[in-house]
Amino acid sequence: MQYKDILITGGAGFVGSNLALKLKQDFPGSKITVLDNLKRRGSELSLKRLKAAGIEFVHGDIRNREDLAFEKVDLLLECSAEPSVLAGIGSSPDYLMNTNLVGTLNCLEVARQHGAASLFLSTSRVYPISYINGLKFEEAETRFNILDGQETPGASSKGIAENFPLDRARSLYGTTKLASEMVVAEYVDTYGLKAIVDRCGVITGPWQMGKIDQGVFVLWVAKHYFKQSLSYIGYGGEGKQVRDFIHIDDLYRAIKLQLENFDEYNGQTYNIGGGLENSVSLQELTALCEKATGNKVDIASVKEDRPADLRFFITDSTKFLEQSGLSWNKNAEQTVQDIYEWIRDNEADLKPILA
Ligand SMILES: NC(=O)c1ccc[n+]([C@@H]2O[C@H](COP(=O)([O-])OP(=O)(O)OC[C@H]3O[C@@H](n4cnc5c(N)ncnc54)[C@H](O)[C@@H]3O)[C@@H](O)[C@H]2O)c1
Repeated sequence: MQYKDILITGGAGFVGSNLALKLKQDFPGSKITVLDNLKRRGSELSLKRLKAAGIEFVHGDIRNREDLAFEKVDLLLECSAEPSVLAGIGSSPDYLMNTNLVGTLNCLEVARQHGAASLFLSTSRVYPISYINGLKFEEAETRFNILDGQETPGASSKGIAENFPLDRARSLYGTTKLASEMVVAEYVDTYGLKAIVDRCGVITGPWQMGKIDQGVFVLWVAKHYFKQSLSYIGYGGEGKQVRDFIHIDDLYRAIKLQLENFDEYNGQTYNIGGGLENSVSLQELTALCEKATGNKVDIASVKEDRPADLRFFITDSTKFLEQSGLSWNKNAEQTVQDIYEWIRDNEADLKPILA
């Protein structure tokens, strides 16, 4: 690993802490510092694990430039965010904007000042909601399927690719991410910043503090584990909405490869997600959770759609997969099993957060 002083913002969160621990394990010669304001409930549980691995924790906030004074940084992984697509709906968007947009600018300034390479975790939520929900689909027995022969560019049965149109509304959350991506591109162009943007679909796995508005896979397994009720909300209330997901271990393999071969990926934007073969509907997820936990829970049906919800999202990551030659290791069953075992092994710590 060419990078010796790595800063991970949001490094106590799900993605940040997993990347920090795995990078430290694979590259013990690199100094890893994580910064986090511990806003996300459950992030505090990472601190013990980070410390035990020899990773330095700084309690700081990316909204404050003063918190970002570091002596040396040669790689910045920007993983801090308000990651909920519902953020700002029915309330002030201030925290969302100040963290996801202004905070990202502050992080980019750190990278510029130190001449550090940077990797920005963006989201599939940059793609406009009305275009996605307007795609041709079929309703199958347990899920909605995207059809081939779409008129919208970048859409096929393989999912949504990078050339999908971007000119309509996408949620306040998605907009903070797209606006940040645009500023990253300007820093690359104007200052010669080395940067990669990864637009991720749903990421999941152990140490995600799943809640109703973010982290649905973990939430679903946890509610089964703790025998609590759930609801299928929207699109007829039958749980046919589909998402693809990528296991955090597979995302790490992708990011590690990008970091080790930075110049090959530099200045580019990649969709990174599980794809059609790693997609499930809520109904299908329920069956996997029942199998893993041995529990069946009550699931209510709410027909009305929820704001910002999508009938389906499948990430078409062909650009990244062809360039990298990677394929994903963890399918839906394995992923649910990993989450189940993590909850079982850490039940006392996780119950107050996930139940
Ligand atoms: N998890 C997913 O499914 C997913 C999908 C696509 C993109 N992403 C992106 O990946 C990144 C990581 O998401 P995650 O799933 O780990 O979320 P997370 O909530 O688990 O982690 C984010 C961390 O950022 C911290 N944070 C929030 N505001 C901060 C601030 N102002 N200053 C410093 N720290 C702050 C939180 O305390 C938390 O620990 C985010 O940028 C998110 O938008 C996540």
